[in-house]
Amino acid sequence: LSLTLGEPTGVTLDPDLWGIFLEDINWSLDGGLNAELLRNGDFEFTHADRPGWGPLTAWQHTGEVEIRTEDPVHPHNGTYVRLTGPVTLTNEGFDAIRVEAGARYRFSAFTWRVQGVGEAALAIVDAAGEPLAQATLATPEGGWHEASLDLVAERGGLGRLRVTVPRGLTLELDALSLRPCGSDGEPLTFRQDLVDTLRALEPSFVRFPGGCVAHGLGLGNLYHWKQTVGPREERVPSFNTWGYHQSRQIGYLEYFELCELLGATPMPIVAAGVSCQNLRGRAACIPMEDMPAYVQDILDLVEFANGGPDTRWGARRAELGHPEPFGLRWLGLGNEDEITRDFEVRYAMVAEALASQHPEVTVIGTAGPQPFGPDFERGWEFAREQRVAVVDEHAYRTPRWFHQNLDRYDDYDREGPAVYFGEYAARTNSVRSALAEAAFMITMERNGDIVRLASYAPLLARLGTTQWVPDLIYFDADDVLPSASYHVQRMFSVERGEAVVDVALEGETHVPVPPRPAGNVRLAAPGARVRVDDASIDGAPVAPVEVGESEVELGAIGADGVVELTATRVEGSEGMIVRLGGTGTDDFLQVDLGSWQNKTTVVH
Ligand code: AHR
Repeated sequence: LSLTLGEPTGVTLDPDLWGIFLEDINWSLDGGLNAELLRNGDFEFTHADRPGWGPLTAWQHTGEVEIRTEDPVHPHNGTYVRLTGPVTLTNEGFDAIRVEAGARYRFSAFTWRVQGVGEAALAIVDAAGEPLAQATLATPEGGWHEASLDLVAERGGLGRLRVTVPRGLTLELDALSLRPCGSDGEPLTFRQDLVDTLRALEPSFVRFPGGCVAHGLGLGNLYHWKQTVGPREERVPSFNTWGYHQSRQIGYLEYFELCELLGATPMPIVAAGVSCQNLRGRAACIPMEDMPAYVQDILDLVEFANGGPDTRWGARRAELGHPEPFGLRWLGLGNEDEITRDFEVRYAMVAEALASQHPEVTVIGTAGPQPFGPDFERGWEFAREQRVAVVDEHAYRTPRWFHQNLDRYDDYDREGPAVYFGEYAARTNSVRSALAEAAFMITMERNGDIVRLASYAPLLARLGTTQWVPDLIYFDADDVLPSASYHVQRMFSVERGEAVVDVALEGETHVPVPPRPAGNVRLAAPGARVRVDDASIDGAPVAPVEVGESEVELGAIGADGVVELTATRVEGSEGMIVRLGGTGTDDFLQVDLGSWQNKTTVVH
């Protein structure tokens, strides 16, 4: 095979093309990038985070521990504990606390001596209860006092943090924290090996905080940036869309600082005044009378990022320790939202305010929910009406889909909005998927005049606590395990091109690519059927592996490879997906179940 480079096609690549998308899913932040070693250190876990969770989740105790809410450290951190000695209270951390011999750990907490005498002891103890590191915790009288001290590990090992209160002493505790210290002796904000792994990607931008986390499950769960800055005890913790708890210790300032550490430009995604499309039929949007305040919050966010010390929010940023602006240029408005009238009106309000007051920021619109369907078409139509500069579209599809869509952007209207392929991954986690993504990334480069930005998703996943597969970088308490897709992302990002040139190939260039499907197949009601022709993959028969909330019955696979599926239960009005996985292979067909009436369609 010989390859000859020809003339430039005239297409140049946006220097921002390859970025990353950091969402708090799969315990990416608490238990991940957040260097905090204690879990539920502020006793704010609740049943709303996950049924069965509460203030003492991740804690064990002996003796009398009272959960209290009167006169807390701050109303946003309303729950704390009163310990009446003799008592021990032990935090298990995230799968225990890894301690290195000689290393320094910064402990901090709010505490006060309610009555009695004596000192509380603090220790990181091993499984036998023997200390790896220890200190005495001073507890002054007269109200909440912020304690801070360093523990230096005498031995390394797996530990837990234990507070021991002697008989005769009663004290209250809240907002406990334990962080490893860096080489400068200061506590780390981010877990270093994960930061190094992200830095090696050389991302141009960091999209955050979502995804679904940005617009949340219902208005109460919408991500308000102002609730996530300032002292930890003033931040508002919340349940996480993905079924756990957000301490918000990594809040907007830390996200911006992470961008700075990575040399990447920040790309916050804010809700367009509506909450997650997953609340279909239970639409939740900010009442119109509250929209001016919400719009102002977003303008304030831009000022927080870019404003000088003479502006209110620029001054606040300086007060929080970062006088230099962060140079915000991109801001996403909405995420996979249903393109309803409610959405459109609110989107337009925010977009207009940003355009008139912050022309330095380019607003990215949303193409609506993925997979591509009616909302997606309407999303693009709306974006054109609004003259949106860039539209965020997403695709979590099979490797086959990526190969079948290598011409996807060839016909996109060059006069219309550009594309941000903001979330994508070939499912599942395999070299085959990584290769499909690589092929598609070449397509994006080739169409660099219309595809300006792209980011794989999700980025991080703590092993054993994932809600989504595949992910780019797995980790546990000790190790970081980048996927095959990570190496593809890294190759494209580090070896960045600037312009596209024609390429001529000579020799055996044929790579068998599965034919394009006849179209999406949607089944609306029980009894609806679909016939799938190519029911074997690499010679292995397919079997349903994931059916969402809907259920299908798989008929026998004929000798000709044809199989019939019958919907037995269909949840939701459209867009349910049935995936057929090949036994022993990592490929699968994908069939959408949706609102088309009892249609029988052939998929090749
Ligand atoms: O990346 C995981 C989720 O996929 C995102 O939160 C959401 O935008 C998409 O549906």
